[in-house]
Amino acid sequence: MRVLGIETSCDETGVAVYDSERGLLAHRLYSQIELHADYGGVVPELASRDHVRKLAPLLREVMEASGTAPGDIDGIAYTSGPGLAGALMVGAVMGRTLAYAWNVPSIGVHHMEGHLLAPLLEENRPEFPFVALLVSGGHTQLLQVDGIGRYTLLGESVDDAAGEAFDKVAKMLGLDYPGGPHVARLALQGNPEAFALPRPMIDRPGLDFSFSGLKTAVRLVIENTPDYPEKTVDICASFEAAIVDTLVRKCERALKQTGMKRLVMAGGVSANVRLRAMLQDLAKRRRAQVFYPSAAFCTDNGAMIAFAGCQRLLAGQGENLAVSVRPRWPM
Ligand code: KG4
Ligand code: ZN
Repeated sequence: MRVLGIETSCDETGVAVYDSERGLLAHRLYSQIELHADYGGVVPELASRDHVRKLAPLLREVMEASGTAPGDIDGIAYTSGPGLAGALMVGAVMGRTLAYAWNVPSIGVHHMEGHLLAPLLEENRPEFPFVALLVSGGHTQLLQVDGIGRYTLLGESVDDAAGEAFDKVAKMLGLDYPGGPHVARLALQGNPEAFALPRPMIDRPGLDFSFSGLKTAVRLVIENTPDYPEKTVDICASFEAAIVDTLVRKCERALKQTGMKRLVMAGGVSANVRLRAMLQDLAKRRRAQVFYPSAAFCTDNGAMIAFAGCQRLLAGQGENLAVSVRPRWPM
């Protein structure tokens, strides 16, 4: 089965063709980061307009690059939520329209299911069941994954998502949006032990997270450090160490609790080098294996949507032609 995947939930236009026999055939991504940079965050109306502008050209490129003619497509997957309503609508309308024109089924994919399954695009892919750490700009969740669509929530953030905490700290430090990669880059030059920051909720039982207190602690450090701008790299390193430590300890607890030996991480923050290294250490300690997507598929992309949609369509799921999106949608 060959599936065209479309992602437009936020500020990246992603398109891909995935073939269940031959794997990922082609993918293209257009990032709007520069468009939103001056505003310090994503402006929904500008995002929708830019998706309208870029989606059709990217579709044509991906069809050509993958050697796919319309008649070769067996189904269309598009992100139907969660995300920005107008942005989602652009992908949904394009997906449904092509499905109608080409007379193939379409399916709306949960954005976080796309992230969750992205590690399965890799050659070294995890088998079910596994524990998954989903860390993006909007979500921080630990899940037990027993198969496609068989997800049990083990814990989640009660306030900010991990990526959101990275972005807010970056903003406090005057760094560009999205700040995660900038904080991570500066952290490489800093001392992670320079400032003692809290590891929130670590002493409490359970698998929930909380990051807003850590964010406040960073603000206090900034306010109370006289030579602050010079200490930016140390603040970045100390913050990153605190958040990674918290994530890793909860992952360890989740592995213990479920007795599982496979840990999968996905979502934008899974691109973080320190998090990857620390989870590798944890895996070694617990004789477990850790899996994550290649860097291009950690953040938003069309390939993960094509893949997740393909799994759903193979399982016989699909939709009628009415277009609807779900800006808020628990998985
Ligand atoms: O998954 P994603 O592209 O979009 C959402 O679904 O939210 O994740 C974006 C998030 C942003 O908060 C960004 O700052 C963060 O992932 N991020 C990182 C890194 N790369 C992206 N955070 C920490 N370290 C990174 N290297
Ligand atoms: Zn995402």
